[in-house]
Amino acid sequence: EKGGWSSFMAKEVSEEPDAVANTLRGRIREGHIEIPELDGMDDLLTGIDRILVLACGTAAYAGMVGKYALESWTRVPVDVELAHEFRYRDPVLSPSTLVVSISQSGETMDTLMAVKYARERGAKTLSICNTQGATIPRESDAVVYTHAGPEVAVASTKAFVAQITALYLLALHVARLRGSLSPEQIAENVAELEAIPGKLSRVLETEQDRIEQLAHWMGDTRSVLFLGRNVGYPIAMEGALKLKELAYIHAEGFAAGELKHGPIALIEPGQPVFVIVPSPRAEGEMHRKVISSIEEIRARGARVIAIAEEGDAAVLPLADEVLRIPLAAPMFEPILGVMPLHIFAMGLATAKGLDVDQPRNLAKSVTVE
Ligand code: BG6
Repeated sequence: EKGGWSSFMAKEVSEEPDAVANTLRGRIREGHIEIPELDGMDDLLTGIDRILVLACGTAAYAGMVGKYALESWTRVPVDVELAHEFRYRDPVLSPSTLVVSISQSGETMDTLMAVKYARERGAKTLSICNTQGATIPRESDAVVYTHAGPEVAVASTKAFVAQITALYLLALHVARLRGSLSPEQIAENVAELEAIPGKLSRVLETEQDRIEQLAHWMGDTRSVLFLGRNVGYPIAMEGALKLKELAYIHAEGFAAGELKHGPIALIEPGQPVFVIVPSPRAEGEMHRKVISSIEEIRARGARVIAIAEEGDAAVLPLADEVLRIPLAAPMFEPILGVMPLHIFAMGLATAKGLDVDQPRNLAKSVTVE
């Protein structure tokens, strides 16, 4: 039931804080992770030498975010691949490969077939799924459910933040088993995770009206670009996907570092560009590098909408609009940074008079290959 909401999507975006909180519930005990569903798998998770994430659409972008955390925290190499590409290229798999599939519905045929293929070739399979008892978890060796609650709108929103949450829980669990993070490091990351729901609620309170207003002003826009770097890169692609799906606008997400290798040719005066600005505390001077990307597109007339953490003053003279997210450790920023993009895509589609719950040509779960 959508209750008093204008659409299921409006309701589901407003439930993003709960989706994270409910996915954490019962899985954190005294500063460390316990995932009861994975009891009995300690030897397996300690013995893996590779993780392969398989998914489609929004779920694949959640997987790309998860790669940063999984690799950094567990030191196990991680690849992310679109499920429909994976099984047609004679992939290398072994019993020490853990295949992690991600699917809101648990019924996406491309993902299901990829999981079956991997399992038949000896890999271990773990499903991250939002639907109790769905086919993909039944066909997998293990399942970690996201508890985002039923998602009705075709394009995925609250399930996305829940999927990232589940991947981070998994990463911290494996890191504890393998000793790749100290108990103190795990406790710090757990505290970051626990703080996310409150921070998401704050984004809704402080930014939602402004973003909707911005979307309304941009009702005639025909093309929008999204730039991100590191964990912000999959978020840029997710922002673009949502705009395509909901508002039927041409949109592209790019890695900010790639700009000078091609996409900068697209920038002409007035071109709107969303930039997900990394925290000034991110390693590798990423903040400075993204700021200089903004300078380059701005010099060519781009209209810059920055998503930046509270207190980051460097963006102020460079951006036409700044949408703020609360401070978090850099690895956790994508969960906060994506919600403004969901609100924006929904707002623009609404401004165009479109049905945000049932976009044309799309189905909630695609059960054909
Ligand atoms: C598409 C949906 O058909 O399938 C997307 O429109 C979704 O929103 C994708 O991300 C994958 O679906 P699932 O259920 O496997 O996560």
